[in-house]
Amino acid sequence: MEPAERAALVENALAILRENDRGAYTVPTRGLYPFQWNWDSCLTALGLGHHDEDRAWREIETLFGHQWPDGMVPHIVFHVPDDGYFPGPDVWRTKRPVPTSGITQPAVAGFAVRRLFERARDPAMAAARARPLLAAIDRWHQWFFAHRDPAGEGLVAIIHPWESGRDNSIDWDEALARVPRDGIEPYARRDLQHADAAHRPTDADYDRFVWLLERFRGLGWDNARLHDASPFQVVDPGFNAILIRSCHDLAALAERLGDDELAARNRAFAERGLAALESLWSEAAGQYLACDRTTGRLVESCSIGGLLAAFAPIPARRAEALGRRIAALGERAGHLVPSHDPADARFDARRYWRGPIWLICNYMIADGLAAAGEDVIARRIGADSIDLIGKSGFAEYYDPLTAEPCGGGRFTWTAAMVLEFLKTTGEQPGDRG
Ligand code: GLC
Repeated sequence: MEPAERAALVENALAILRENDRGAYTVPTRGLYPFQWNWDSCLTALGLGHHDEDRAWREIETLFGHQWPDGMVPHIVFHVPDDGYFPGPDVWRTKRPVPTSGITQPAVAGFAVRRLFERARDPAMAAARARPLLAAIDRWHQWFFAHRDPAGEGLVAIIHPWESGRDNSIDWDEALARVPRDGIEPYARRDLQHADAAHRPTDADYDRFVWLLERFRGLGWDNARLHDASPFQVVDPGFNAILIRSCHDLAALAERLGDDELAARNRAFAERGLAALESLWSEAAGQYLACDRTTGRLVESCSIGGLLAAFAPIPARRAEALGRRIAALGERAGHLVPSHDPADARFDARRYWRGPIWLICNYMIADGLAAAGEDVIARRIGADSIDLIGKSGFAEYYDPLTAEPCGGGRFTWTAAMVLEFLKTTGEQPGDRG
């Protein structure tokens, strides 16, 4: 890429981060998502860190300032009222001092904090900022295994599709169909005022999302009861891989900072998780698949959830197979990595998590594959990501067949990931030690 072109991309990405900065946290995009989202913030911190380390740490500190007493870190923090979003605090009713949602999101904080720490230009400042976060993230990890893996299988379940971060993935269709739609309070969607309905989840999906929310609210958001009471319990390989990677990275960081007990606990979580992840491998599909915990069966749905497993330190032969699988997807899609296999009749090129490309997934997959020595495919994913931005700007997600921008515009984590991809071009990304 020409230096001028690169400089323009960086300038644009920084402008988006500034535009969406609310001082101590960043909103994903104006209008559509006016609050702080959990995994958005952790990944955004990496982008912020290139130019302002203090601000990067603050992004994650703000999120953890709203950790629940039981250890959960909520998926949304409603810092300031804004009635442009549904469901808002009046629907969640979690009774937190600053309102939050009542469910969680992919646990990418352990990874983000280690990376910020290792890149820090001021190691003393980084150590001082990392220590309290280390303890808070460890509490969150313990919360996951206590409340989302009550039988001690080594893998956690999500109990709401929103927890996965991949809201309307085809992976959830079967389990979600068992969730009722009736008896919910009347509501009005707000997302359709900001984005094209053809790019968003359907009304049937939304009814069920709301039904689950009301079910959990009816149980007083008591996490000791929610897992078993949920008709939706799915073990997502992507979600677990992110948690495993974060446990692994937190352990490495704790060792550096001299907390051996915390390191040993997180190392054990990661090892147990990795061993259990094997049960989600499908030889026929050539990738990992989700498992419906209520039926005990693997879900026949080749989505990006199974490819995100590459983010965890999986065995080399698995990383190699995922690399092959992604290369095959590249023959069916103009750009990598589609969130669902275009060969599947249920694939929908523009509908949110049922086909489109998301740069955060590209980043995590490329990082893991590079660490596993799968450099060629990792570089292709990075190049495709930058190419998409050049063609279609900083959108929320992209049609993998036409590169058309979809969803919201001027999107924070897309901008952060571009800074990351540009930074790691030509370097060795994915050092996970
Ligand atoms: C959507 C995405 C989710 C993200 C949120 C804010 O709900 O599915 O992953 O965290 O938007 O960007």
